[in-house]
Amino acid sequence: MRKKIVAGNWKMNTNLQEGIELAKAVAAKSVETPENVGLIVAAPFTHLCAVAEAVKGSKVEVSAQNCADHEKGAYTGEVSVGMLTSVGCQWTILGHSERRQYYGETDEKLVEKVKLALGAGLGVILCVGENLDEREAGKHFEVVTSQIENVLFQFTAEDMAKIVVAYEPVWAIGTGKTATAEQAEEIHACIRKVLAGKFGETVAEDTTILYGGSCKPSNAKELFAQKDIDGGLIGGAALKADDFIAIAQSY
Ligand code: 13P
Repeated sequence: MRKKIVAGNWKMNTNLQEGIELAKAVAAKSVETPENVGLIVAAPFTHLCAVAEAVKGSKVEVSAQNCADHEKGAYTGEVSVGMLTSVGCQWTILGHSERRQYYGETDEKLVEKVKLALGAGLGVILCVGENLDEREAGKHFEVVTSQIENVLFQFTAEDMAKIVVAYEPVWAIGTGKTATAEQAEEIHACIRKVLAGKFGETVAEDTTILYGGSCKPSNAKELFAQKDIDGGLIGGAALKADDFIAIAQSY
């Protein structure tokens, strides 16, 4: 049975004090969420150590938003997977569209990052999704399929146990424009089919696939009711503990 997850991507928001406060509030309210729904908070690098401490003893797990594509060495400004695990981080988001768009994150680089993350024992939330032009040109299935093939097809069925996929249509991120439940479901079903083709039905059925893009308490229920949507990767609404928890309560 695949796990349901609601993950909050804080992006470049909150200072350390605000981050700790938010993490503590999420941890305190996490007892009000269904037992079978996992909660993850993806905080900025600078906050991870303190956020891990703040959520200790609760079911909330901690994620980074990125990691380096090298293990260690002369890579000024980068943060390695070993550094992440050493501060109590359990996950990393990889391939977020903002990193693909602004920081030249390619599928090739992502393969390296996923390898390092899994090797270090981190879980990976791999983001995929089409932009508005690709959606309007009817290329969304093609784009998402190739992102999945380029990255995940380099891994094994065993590796997939530590990988969560997040479908985030770029046109729905931070725009207030959510994909309809039908639009999201048809891509999620397509992702699951592509995974089944490579790794078999069991792995595909066991893979958690999250939806991200203007997900909020008012639309989470309808999205999460879809057969292939296993939770959400939440941006803006994750910055308010009450909203984040309300989304998790939509199950
Ligand atoms: P919003 O929920 O703010 O649209 O952001 C979604 C997202 O990018 C999560 O990674």
